[in-house]
Amino acid sequence: MSLELVTAGESHGPALVAIVTGLPAGLRVDRAAIDHDLRRRREGYGRSPRQKLEHDEVEVVAGLRHGVTLGTPLALLIRNKDHANWVWGMSPWPPEGEPAGKGMSPVTLPRPGHADLAGALKFGHADVRNALERASARSTAVHVAAGAVAKALLGEIGVSVAGRVVEIGGEVDEEGWKHATEAARGDRDTLGGIVEVVANGAPPGLGSYADKGDRLDARLAAALMGIQAVKGVEIGAGFALARMRGSEAHDEIEPGFRRQTNRAGGIEGGITNGEPVVVRAAMKPLPTLMRPLRSVDLASGDPGEALVERSDVQAVEALAVVAEAAVAWELARAAREKFGGDALSDFVASHAAYLERISWHEDR
Ligand SMILES: Cc1cc2nc3c(=O)[nH]c(=O)nc-3n(C[C@H](O)[C@H](O)[C@H](O)COP(=O)(O)O)c2cc1C
Repeated sequence: MSLELVTAGESHGPALVAIVTGLPAGLRVDRAAIDHDLRRRREGYGRSPRQKLEHDEVEVVAGLRHGVTLGTPLALLIRNKDHANWVWGMSPWPPEGEPAGKGMSPVTLPRPGHADLAGALKFGHADVRNALERASARSTAVHVAAGAVAKALLGEIGVSVAGRVVEIGGEVDEEGWKHATEAARGDRDTLGGIVEVVANGAPPGLGSYADKGDRLDARLAAALMGIQAVKGVEIGAGFALARMRGSEAHDEIEPGFRRQTNRAGGIEGGITNGEPVVVRAAMKPLPTLMRPLRSVDLASGDPGEALVERSDVQAVEALAVVAEAAVAWELARAAREKFGGDALSDFVASHAAYLERISWHEDR
């Protein structure tokens, strides 16, 4: 039994879609909770005006009846409100009549740091838009929706997941974040940052050391690296561990299998150890600069300036929400593998029986 997710959708196309398989029947899904996370993803002072345009709301087109899962594929849809400006430019069918609006003239100046050049070369696109539309982080909206469903499932076994910003542009407090963002905006530049996701309540035993693809640390790293612009992932103390001695690095085990420290970030041997799961992701500065970087025209080979398109100054607060969804998704998958069940009650009962078997409770 595993949870799987397939998504589709271009940034300015008609809609984003996700199909989730492997959910148990009987899970209550709260529409407001999904829309709340979609709103959190859009907010933040570094975001572009597009975010005001996109009042993302999830539509469910299959797998749910009266707010409760049926145990069948769950299909989620989020319409791109901005598509109204790109009706012809992003039309799935050949435009007829006198097509107008955004996206009609081809993009030939790839942005350094974006998928533009590599994507156009790989797929043979003369118009870079054919690459950037899917590479864009707009797709993260539907991942956030799926993550909200994963959080609902995890909530049934007492697991909560929360993401937060740690740094923006090298600054570590909110005052600094705002200041750095406004300074970068003024310079028509962009910023990156660091986010942290913590999952509380995960029992020991999610993930496995059986094979490298089973290791939860590897899976979380892949889930976070799968997000656009993430270039580094740490589990627990991560890179700092490399500079410590073993006596400083490892979390000693005390009676009741309790720990005073959690430098392992809740994972040992690729398996949750019962401590909070703590992961961090580093985001590079966004590649679309209002003062464009040097590039070369794909069609003519002439030097030029990279594409300038409405874009965020930084999206670190948004990344915190997207990373939270990615971690929730991966933990929910691992929990489905461990506890199975066609009905939610089977899943919950299996979790309870397992905790009983390992005598894992608060007063252990
Ligand atoms: C939530 C979020 C929002 C983003 N917004 C932008 C943006 O407005 N402009 C931009 O150039 N890149 C943005 N990015 C980053 C690009 O999508 C990303 O750098 C690009 O797809 C290339 O992928 P790579 O950085 O992983 O190599 C965003 C990323 C995330 C996670």
